[in-house]
Amino acid sequence: MHKVRVVQKLHLVPIERRLDAIKEAGFNTFRLSTKDVFLDMLTDSGTNAMSDNQISAMFQADDAYAGSQSFMRLQKAVEDVLGKKYLLPVHQGRAAENVISRAFIKPGNVIPMNYHFTTALAHITENGGKIKELLYDHALDFTSDHPFKGNINIEKLEECIRRHGAENIPFIRMEASTNLIGGQPFSISNLMDVRRIADKYGIMLVLDASLLGENAYLVKQREKEWRENSMADIIKMMTGLADLVYFSARKLSSSRGGGICTNRKDLYMKMEALIPLFEGFLTYGGISVREIEAMAVGLYETLDETMISQSPQFIRFLVNELGRLGIPVVTPPGVLGAHVDAMGFCSHIPQEHYPAGALAAAFYLVSGVRGMERGTISSVRDENGIEILADVELLRLAVPRRVFTLSQIKYVVDRMAWLYENRELIGGLEFTYEPPVLRFFMGGLKPLTDWPEKLMVKFRKDFGDSL
Ligand code: F0G
Repeated sequence: MHKVRVVQKLHLVPIERRLDAIKEAGFNTFRLSTKDVFLDMLTDSGTNAMSDNQISAMFQADDAYAGSQSFMRLQKAVEDVLGKKYLLPVHQGRAAENVISRAFIKPGNVIPMNYHFTTALAHITENGGKIKELLYDHALDFTSDHPFKGNINIEKLEECIRRHGAENIPFIRMEASTNLIGGQPFSISNLMDVRRIADKYGIMLVLDASLLGENAYLVKQREKEWRENSMADIIKMMTGLADLVYFSARKLSSSRGGGICTNRKDLYMKMEALIPLFEGFLTYGGISVREIEAMAVGLYETLDETMISQSPQFIRFLVNELGRLGIPVVTPPGVLGAHVDAMGFCSHIPQEHYPAGALAAAFYLVSGVRGMERGTISSVRDENGIEILADVELLRLAVPRRVFTLSQIKYVVDRMAWLYENRELIGGLEFTYEPPVLRFFMGGLKPLTDWPEKLMVKFRKDFGDSL
């Protein structure tokens, strides 16, 4: 239910240039320059299309260091949409994780959660905390079509609290549309169970709402009791169950920035002083006032089902088409992107040789499409420097909202089908440069053999001189 009014020209450089580009990028798609990228499916973060209303709101921003009316409008949007009175603005989602972790985590604390996100894990660890991921077994079974793989395992949650003691658990973290397991939602009934346990043991419940709109949309689609409710009701229900809600506005509201919100003054006061220290004054939080305006409008737009549903519908198409070709993908189709199971795709590559990283590099090479590795490269080493093999090895192909056309999605299917037929040509990778924290962002790798050249030769043979 949208039409395109502003366009950006794309370039598809020949495979010979793509080979040089991925070598220059250390076989890490984060390090590619967009001049070498055709379809950018790295992420939806800050890349969702903005609406005309968002862009026009940016022109009415109130430039003021303190007391800006733009912030007042954002505060009202947060109260109207998320149902929380107190708002702390931050420059992006991980900044919220920094503030929350510093305010509430003490060394030795345990934080139970459905599943980690990379930046949340980094900030919790940085503050001396340890995470416990408590999913049900079907959550990591890609072929299971369980509708709510993001549900936290309630029995394990209670057992975890009993084992570690409520006094050592500052909060339970629930992530909407659990990113790293393939954008899989939790149900409202699961969140209600979490609330019951949080109340029973007197523990705070923190909701990462970065992908809340999509989680709400899938609740409406998949949870019978909520089928007749509006997006507004569903979102308010979910945020109402949490003591503290934080979000990356780069994802939630198609803008920049982020926020932490709550109805509890005591929680707000524990974090307030950290905002001027790390982010900026309390009425801008390191975000430009223009972006604050776009964020406010974007929050109201998350209540529009036709806006939220566009990306999940394209993802469903992509997942179903790939599945039809026998390509292993995470099902049921989730949000954010399609997630290809790299261990299934490249079953000949041992996990120590980073099959998801290799698949991301190979797919860029044969298509110009930039996806993201979500597997062991995105994981960490343990305290002895031993590699922790990730639970899943995924190539994520993000489908930002209202950015691509269906024919571009079909191009992705087409090139992926060719790569799947030639998958034996893909080989492993090893690190040449490994940063100590969040290594996937800037790390450098190299192929273990000359497999990229071989893949290019086969591509030229099959595609002639086409790009
Ligand atoms: N929480 C979730 C669930 C996220 O997906 C992200 C970011 C963050 C927190 C951190 O927010 O980037 O604004 O600092 N996800 C992006 C992605 C980076 O590509 O999935 P941020």
